Amino acid sequence: MKKEVLVLVAEGLQAAHEKSIVHRDIKSSNIMISKDGKIKIMDFGLAKIRGGVQLTKEHSTLGTVAYMSPEQARGEYVDHRSDIWSFGVVFFEILTGQLPFKGDYEQAVIYSILNEEIPKALGFITTSADKMDAVLSGLLRLSRLGQAALKIERLDMDSLISNVAKNMEYQIKESGVTLDIEHLPGCFGDASQINQVFSNLIDNAMKYLDASRAGVIHIHGWSEDNSSIYCVEDNGTGIAADHQGKIFEIFHRLEPEKGSGEGLGLTIVRRILDRHNGKVWVESEPGVGSKFFVSLPSA
Ligand SMILES: Nc1ncnc2c1ncn2[C@@H]1O[C@H](COP(=O)(O)OP(=O)(O)OP(=O)(O)O)[C@@H](O)[C@H]1O
Ligand SMILES: [Mg+2]
Repeated sequence: MKKEVLVLVAEGLQAAHEKSIVHRDIKSSNIMISKDGKIKIMDFGLAKIRGGVQLTKEHSTLGTVAYMSPEQARGEYVDHRSDIWSFGVVFFEILTGQLPFKGDYEQAVIYSILNEEIPKALGFITTSADKMDAVLSGLLRLSRLGQAALKIERLDMDSLISNVAKNMEYQIKESGVTLDIEHLPGCFGDASQINQVFSNLIDNAMKYLDASRAGVIHIHGWSEDNSSIYCVEDNGTGIAADHQGKIFEIFHRLEPEKGSGEGLGLTIVRRILDRHNGKVWVESEPGVGSKFFVSLPSA
């Protein structure tokens, strides 16, 4: 979506530039998306016909400082290249969620525009673009998941979990973890989505082990009222109490530098359980381990 916006703005600018119109105030707040999905570049009020009558005083700085090209910040003559610079700033802002040139006051921002190294900013854009790609494909996965038709059937959880473990055999061997699976009660659910739930939970249990002790993952379950409750228990790092509520939020990772991942696994687990009238919750003690509980309609 954001990528499309950028393409449309670039096309709009190109059309204006072909007519020799320079916008002079390209910034994110001037880019509007109408209800029917059309893109509008607002505020052509500051625009000036290239080569035509000078509508504004040459030395008054126009637009919002952070988006200004160096020549505009210096109050010099500007042409369409200045719009392209500002567009680059919007591009940067959309990709990274922050402005490339910052400062506490106008003069500091201008100093940054005139003096800051661009390559540093470019490196940041490259890693952020990769990150955004991962984020976009994650969002796509989530949205597909929400739309996929559920095929609810009686699930034999003993065979479902042993299937999950078989698919993760390589990872399990690599991490040297002991996987201890008890007999589990059956439930109702969509086989492939419930498979995804336990794959994500076991993946986490293996990923957040404590290097100072041998990893043990214990999976057990029981029936309660009309539900089957399952528990994936690990003896890993554990999760601090004030983080426990946040881990189900999209893209939330406690220690981004630890292991790889998008912070999507538990969001997917929760979405799937919402669609199944089920639940997921956690009990965890830092330094001891975590227990992730899943409840589903019993079979
Ligand atoms: N079993 C666990 N033990 C300790 N911390 C955990 C455990 N499971 C999840 N977490 C914490 O919760 C965060 C969110 O988990 P989640 O599965 O949503 O994302 P991820 O594992 O970081 O990435 P992804 O699952 O998308 O690869 C993790 O980054 C980690 O900090
Ligand atoms: Mg995960």
